[in-house]
Amino acid sequence: MDRNKRTLGEFIIENQAAFQYSSGELSKLINAIRLAAKVVNHEVNKAGLVDILGDSGDTNIQGENQQKLDVLANEKFKQTLTKREIVCGIASEEEDDFISVNSQDKNFQNKYVVLIDPLDGSSNIDVNVSVGTIFSIYRRVTPIGTPVTKEDFLQPGINQVAAGYFIYGTSTMLVYTTGHGVNGFTLNPAIGTFYLSHPNMTYPETGRIYSINEGNYIHFPQGVKDYIKYCQQEEGDRPYTSRYIGSLVSDFHRNMIKGGIYMYPKSSVASNGKLRLLYECNPMAFLAEQAGAKASDGYRRILEIQPTELHERAPFFCGSRKMVEKAEEFMARHKGA
Ligand code: AHG
Ligand code: MN
Ligand code: MN
Repeated sequence: MDRNKRTLGEFIIENQAAFQYSSGELSKLINAIRLAAKVVNHEVNKAGLVDILGDSGDTNIQGENQQKLDVLANEKFKQTLTKREIVCGIASEEEDDFISVNSQDKNFQNKYVVLIDPLDGSSNIDVNVSVGTIFSIYRRVTPIGTPVTKEDFLQPGINQVAAGYFIYGTSTMLVYTTGHGVNGFTLNPAIGTFYLSHPNMTYPETGRIYSINEGNYIHFPQGVKDYIKYCQQEEGDRPYTSRYIGSLVSDFHRNMIKGGIYMYPKSSVASNGKLRLLYECNPMAFLAEQAGAKASDGYRRILEIQPTELHERAPFFCGSRKMVEKAEEFMARHKGA
């Protein structure tokens, strides 16, 4: 690793002043998330070695099987964030309800809430394919000094103050934004330090990759079916290439670097698709927009959707601006279908 490259720690300190509400609290929070992610990274790396693989037998609130590493990752992030008392609340894909962080000594002085998908792509753990962690940070809307309420979590994505993901891949990376562009850091595992490896990441304006679980084709709305056929037509730079890992973090990361579109639409069997608005769509949409790309539910900007439930789902079309606009054109032709 280049010795002249900045470390994440240095980057956070240097950029703290540029942050609107700079008090060091957000920096501490990102530091704590980094710490928990390093532990999760270590666990994910050794998943093939020790007996922590497989189904824990529990199911989460959405009725999906929880892998043991989901549980472990959830615990690590919860513990790290609550023990350090740097947030006033946490909501996690793996928890039925939000958690109020009871820092009574300090009279609930913390102003940030964190929303997290502790392990994204968990069905890929067993097969040694990249998984990730997605996080999203908001300022609470209820008064500081009182316990958090649902309102603090049910904010539209435009209110995010920071968001990012860790990808536990061939190398482990952190990609995040505080609303001033997107930066990527790569972990040097030998010394446990993240280095700024991808400064000012920008999403190509267009691309040649489309990512969707095409096995569900029969259930897709007509607009999506037509757009898929458009991607497959021979004309200009088409047909496009199909790439789908099944870990949102990995699919997003590849498309951001190479140019492409990721889609998880609604279907005749899932009226809002599968991805969770608060833990998956909003943070990815914030990153996408900060990198110059676009995220929509097929009709509306993701970041403007007013959530009503902690675990609600939303159709998701995210990627190179021109590709998302084209997909929206097809959706508009069959609105309501
Ligand atoms: P999670 O592991 O957090 O439940 O998320 C899995 C999500 C997302 O990462 C991925 O893009 C999508 O589910 C894949 O779903 P399908 O298997 O239905 O394609
Ligand atoms: Mn997920
Ligand atoms: Mn998950």
